[in-house]
Amino acid sequence: MTTMPLILAPMQGLTERLFRHTFHQCFNGAFDYAISPFLSLTHGNLNDAWDKIDDVLPAHNTDSIPVVPQILGKETDEFVALANRLYDIGYHEVNWNIGCPMRRVAGKHRGSGILPYPNEVQAVLDGIIPKIKPALSIKMRLGYYDDAEISKIIPILNQYPIANITIHPRTGKQQYGGSVNLDRLAEILPDIKHPVIYNGDIRTVDQYHAVLHRFPQIAGVMIGRGALYNPTLPSQIKSKTYHDNASSLFIDQLIANIMNLPIPDQGKIRKIKEYWCLLWQSTKATEAQSKIVLRSATLDEVTTAIKKITTFAAN
Ligand SMILES: Cc1cc2nc3c(=O)[nH]c(=O)nc-3n(C[C@H](O)[C@H](O)[C@H](O)COP(=O)(O)O)c2cc1C
Repeated sequence: MTTMPLILAPMQGLTERLFRHTFHQCFNGAFDYAISPFLSLTHGNLNDAWDKIDDVLPAHNTDSIPVVPQILGKETDEFVALANRLYDIGYHEVNWNIGCPMRRVAGKHRGSGILPYPNEVQAVLDGIIPKIKPALSIKMRLGYYDDAEISKIIPILNQYPIANITIHPRTGKQQYGGSVNLDRLAEILPDIKHPVIYNGDIRTVDQYHAVLHRFPQIAGVMIGRGALYNPTLPSQIKSKTYHDNASSLFIDQLIANIMNLPIPDQGKIRKIKEYWCLLWQSTKATEAQSKIVLRSATLDEVTTAIKKITTFAAN
């Protein structure tokens, strides 16, 4: 049984409270905590971030995986205001996203787009650390253009109190393509004085153990897509028991929870299909069978097509 914290990765549109709640219902305790999808300070506008606050309101997260809210942005005054509001509603840690690779984000030196500019990273930390009430953790990549960039960021991060740093060892330019650069991670790890959490491409228990074996100094592991390709993976890693048919039961529960959302059918269909794009891999469906779901037009057709597959998996 591992005691290493296992953390659910933030995935915009996927690991929101509905997913975290469903995961908790089906696999209680498999993840120790989650980082929320980012609250964005786009254009320095606190209201944009506040619009999405529903996702992390404590009242909406009671029967769920504990969550640490994540903030995307570099406007220090707004960052401080948001972090302190989050503290006031009960959060003792916030996570700063300097890993997002999306071009429209990175182009404005946000997310991983700030990594080529160490002075800007320093300016943000100088502006926020003395003023925020919650602890700060960070989620980042090796760089934006180049994996050398992190070497100039580490000495800056080392100057500040930071709870932990999650590293997804790709560059922003790579998006999610190519492979994670474990050799580069090995080079830089000794230079980082804060606890480091590993994130990226863990899809099997063996891959999890390989990362721990190669990097025994890491303080935790974060899993994103792997938890949708195989929802039982976190339980397997934690040596927790689960039902033989647990992935299908999870899909059924997720759909049941989506059906209860107060949104129009089209919204429900869109949500179910977004999850299905990853979740189908946890079923026995072939790719061709899985596409029937994506081609289905009505809510009834979509749920019937999925039910056929999850029921088949149960037999
Ligand atoms: C659809 C999608 C949305 C994401 N949204 C966020 C986000 O809001 N904040 C963040 O820090 N990372 C985000 N990520 C990155 C993931 O947290 C994670 O770093 C990445 O998927 C690699 O880990 P994995 O291989 O375990 O999935 C997102 C990734 C995906 C695929």
